[in-house]
Amino acid sequence: MTKSNNTPDKQYGLSELKEEDVSSNPIKQFGAWYEEALRADLIHPNAFTLTTSTKDGKPSARVVLLKDYDERGFVFYSNSESKKGSDLADNPFAAFCFWWGKLERQIRIEGKIEKVSEDEADDYFASRPRGSQIGAWVSNQSTVIPDRKLLDERVCEFESKYKDKPIPRPLYWNGYRLVPDLIEFWQGRDNRLHDRLRYRLQKEGEWVIERLAP
Ligand SMILES: Cc1cc2nc3c(=O)[nH]c(=O)nc-3n(C[C@H](O)[C@H](O)[C@H](O)COP(=O)(O)O)c2cc1C
Repeated sequence: MTKSNNTPDKQYGLSELKEEDVSSNPIKQFGAWYEEALRADLIHPNAFTLTTSTKDGKPSARVVLLKDYDERGFVFYSNSESKKGSDLADNPFAAFCFWWGKLERQIRIEGKIEKVSEDEADDYFASRPRGSQIGAWVSNQSTVIPDRKLLDERVCEFESKYKDKPIPRPLYWNGYRLVPDLIEFWQGRDNRLHDRLRYRLQKEGEWVIERLAP
């Protein structure tokens, strides 16, 4: 078997995560860390791994981009006819994982997904560059295609169809909001004794903060 990495165990020492320093509200705590990630000159600080699973529990993971977040939850956009879209139609529970290596931080978010409103999706779609809007029409995401040429041909087709016209949002292109019931903040520490603080939503709507063993 080939070892994936022969370098010595990396030590982490940039920061620590203490109960007395965090917000009692996990969305505010996410916001504080996200602002730091935005300032840290990372490639795609808004990229995270999204895990979905089929209704019989077979998981799959891929990277998508966070486009919005607030007290209601965390929003990304995708094709609802894709593999992830079909998983989410069958099983709305999903998990997000952000890894900001430069900051030695991970954030895990779990909860239930709902679609954003049509108006919200329309507004966001309208704000995208024209090339990305065409891309949404061109790609039947997650389907098998014969070759790359098909995509180029479809780009020409949709560019001429919408020449000098606004490009509408395809009905299959949707926003998904994950409504969280669990958010964990992980800060790397020396000797694998990392800090982990998990916010868990209780039935009464209050968040409880628990420290987990690393
Ligand atoms: C950095 C990065 C950002 C991405 N952002 C998105 C996104 O916001 N929405 C999306 O549908 N796919 C995005 N993708 C592509 C997905 O990873 C994936 O290939 C695609 O959504 C199809 O996934 P599925 O077949 O599991 O549904 C991104 C990929 C990368 C590497």
